[in-house]
Parts: sequence; structure tokens; C-alpha cells
Amino acid sequence: MSVEKLVVIGQGYVGLPLAVRAVEAGLDVVGLDVDADRVKRLAAGESFVEDIPTDRLGRALGSGRYRPSTEYTEAEGFDVCVITVPTPLRDGVPDLSFVEQAGVGIGPYVRPGCVVVLESTTYPGTTEELLRPLLESASGLTSPGDFHLGYSPERIDPGNPTWKLENTPKVVSGVDAASRDRVDAFYQRLVERTVPVDSTRVAELTKLIENTFRQVNIALINELTMLSHHLDIDVWQAIEAAETKPFGFMPFRPGPGVGGHCLPIDPCYLSWQVKRRLGRQFRFIELANDVNHEMPEHVTQRIMGGLNRAGRAVSGARLLLLGLAYKPNTGDMRDSPAVDVARRLQALGADVRAVEPYAEPHHVPAGVTVVGLTEHELRAADAVVVVTDHDCLDYDLVVRHARYVFDTRNRCHGPTVERL
Ligand SMILES: NC(=O)c1ccc[n+]([C@@H]2O[C@H](COP(=O)([O-])OP(=O)(O)OC[C@H]3O[C@@H](n4cnc5c(N)ncnc54)[C@H](O)[C@@H]3O)[C@@H](O)[C@H]2O)c1
Repeated sequence: MSVEKLVVIGQGYVGLPLAVRAVEAGLDVVGLDVDADRVKRLAAGESFVEDIPTDRLGRALGSGRYRPSTEYTEAEGFDVCVITVPTPLRDGVPDLSFVEQAGVGIGPYVRPGCVVVLESTTYPGTTEELLRPLLESASGLTSPGDFHLGYSPERIDPGNPTWKLENTPKVVSGVDAASRDRVDAFYQRLVERTVPVDSTRVAELTKLIENTFRQVNIALINELTMLSHHLDIDVWQAIEAAETKPFGFMPFRPGPGVGGHCLPIDPCYLSWQVKRRLGRQFRFIELANDVNHEMPEHVTQRIMGGLNRAGRAVSGARLLLLGLAYKPNTGDMRDSPAVDVARRLQALGADVRAVEPYAEPHHVPAGVTVVGLTEHELRAADAVVVVTDHDCLDYDLVVRHARYVFDTRNRCHGPTVERL
């Protein structure tokens, strides 16, 4: 198969790496996005995704085969279209309006033999029940039959130095065998290994299993951590010891909560679907959400306790948070528990400063001052809180100069350090 023209709808954390990878594989790529500012910045060679350094984006643009655009008319004559738009929750309910808009936008350009793939995370059934009718009615064509349609979940882990788009196996599916084979052939050009499955529903569920598994196991270890604190047992050491078992155990670490676009949201797509279709609760998911939501308040209480032991009230205390992003080594603050902790401490009257080397200034919560990690800031703080443990921060410096450290990530050790 010779795929020449690819359209990637959505140029965010998922769509941009896919577009750039496809250019490198020799395809002609249009990167569509409704965000005109984002498109302008991309066209000027400015990347906001850590995994796509500016020089790599520059090479893609320089090849003349990557065109960021806001215009769906640029999709004319496409061979493959991949949809990577957001799938958030609105009041706890899946919001598929972006997928719908993408379907309506690309529908008129669907032609016989082309391939459309949905990558956005969503509940099982979305590709066939929601996207397919939109594409069919806008194009007057059908799938299976006239055009190919499939689903391939994105597994990208922004900031992960080892697992990239290219070397992470890609699950692929289609509405029939022909669609699946076309979707498979397309991704084989971009990644080392594809994993074909029998239906789009299986592929949709695969992604939700992965993230629900993480969410539930993180919640398990978070609840155990809160209980171990009251039992006065070092949970970190217990996890490290359990990890020596060569089979049947997989370590998860506690933390200040879960954040980002995936873990707090994706499992809710599944529980919503189970409730809608079966009228039943997915109890593990509900419980995991409850426990993980509790963590920012637990962290806040522990910091208050630490300050109290030093005879200091949280009101008026100067606090230095290390990391505001929801995970290490990225600047992504979407639904970050660190931001939640910062707001809770501010509401209690604390003067909150933060070290966040990856911060985009307009994403920093109001009232939080971003500072550098200096001896002066560390000494001046009543408490230093390791919230998101970016690798680039000097934790020895922290331990040397901070008078009290509350560490939610097991990065610091010593008499002035209290761990989650
Ligand atoms: N970020 C991750 O680590 C990750 C990992 C796996 C899966 N996912 C899933 O992938 C999907 C995309 O996530 P993301 O992190 O890339 O989101 P993002 O917000 O970074 O990017 C999405 C882009 O889509 C654009 N967009 C919205 N509606 C559009 C439309 N109708 N036409 C064109 N562009 C449109 C937005 O302007 C935005 O730039 C979500 O379903 C998410 O759950 C994300």
C-alpha cells in the first residue's frame, strides 16, 4: 500500500508526535487543529510538546511535508486520517463533542478507499456507533464497504525517555478485516510492532483496561500509605521489599494523587458506559477515584501537622512546592494534584511558591510565585514539599538547606525529611 497523504486532526500531545513521526516515515502530513495560536506557533517551528524538540519539528517543517493548518479544506484528497482530539469529562460525563466536530469536519473529504482511524481514548462502541454514522452521512459512503474505519489507542507517555511512539507496540483494529488490515499497514510504517485485534470495541477496551489498572493500583497503594502512616510503618520500604519477589507482584508508588488527561478521566468513560448499558456500578473504579481524590487533602493535612510540630501555623507560613506538573519531567499541569495541593494551602493562608522548571507561565495557578531552586528559597521556606519529582532538581541541595521537607515521592532522606 502506498499511503501518501495523512491528515492528523488535533496537534496536541498525541497528534503532534504522530504527525512528525509520519513525516519522518516519508508521508505528506497536514496537522489540523482548531487552535489558531497553536497552529501559528507550530508553523513558526515552536514545539510545546517535550517529546518533540524544536529541531525535530524544524526538520519536519523543512522537509516541506508537514503543514500545520486550521482549515479542514486542506484535508482534500487524504489517504489516511487519524483523529487525536480531546475526550474530557463534563460534569462527570464523557464529552465526545470534539470527536463529533472532527467527524463532521473530515466527513466531506472521505472518499472511496481512504482510511479513518480514531485514537482518542473513549468508551467501547464510540468508533462504530458515534463516528461511523457521522462520516457516512457527511460523505454519502459506507464503512465497511466504501471506506475503511478503525480504532488504535494511543499509548504515548509524554516525557518517557525509553518508550516512544516508535517502539511502543500499537494495538490496531477495524470495523472489518479489510479495515483492520489497512489500519495495520499504515501503523507498520510508523512503529516497530503492531498488535491487531478483532474489533474496534476490543481496541477501545484495551486502552481503558490499561489506565483503569493503573488507577486502581495507585489507589490501592495510596490507601495503604495513609493507613501505614497511622500504623507507623514505612510503606516505601515495604514496597521495595515486596518488589524483590520475582513473580506475581508489580510495584506501584504512592503519590499526592493522580492527574493529567488520562488516569483521572479514562476509567470514568468505562464506568459511565457500564452504568449506561448494564445499569451497574463499576465499583473498583468508583472506589479508586474516591481514594485518589483524597490524596491532596491528606498531603495538606500532613504538611499542616509538620508545621504544627515546629510550632508554626500554616496561615502565614512560607511554603516551597517542588513540581506543579502532574507527572515528572513534563510541564503538563492538567488536573495536577500539585495544583490542588497549592490551592488548598493558599486557602489556608500560606504564602505558596513553587519550583517548576517546565512551567508555561500562563498555566501556573494564580497567586503562586514560580522561583528557582536556590539555597535562599530553601532556607526561607517553613516547609519544602516534594510534589512532582522532576529528575532535573537537586534533591541533595534540598536536604542540605531546607529546615523541614515533606516528600510525597521518596526522593529525600534525612532527619528533616518526612515522607508520605
Ligand atoms: N496526553 C497523553 O499522554 C495521552 C496518552 C494517551 C491517550 N491520550 C488521548 O488522546 C486524545 C488527545 O489527547 P492530547 O493529550 O493530545 O490532547 P491535547 O489537548 O494536547 O490536544 C488535542 C488538540 O486537539 C485540538 N482539537 C480539538 N477539537 C478539534 C477539532 N474539532 N478539530 C481539530 N483539532 C481539534 C485541540 O485544539 C488540541 O490542540 C485524548 O482522547 C486523550 O485521552 C492522551
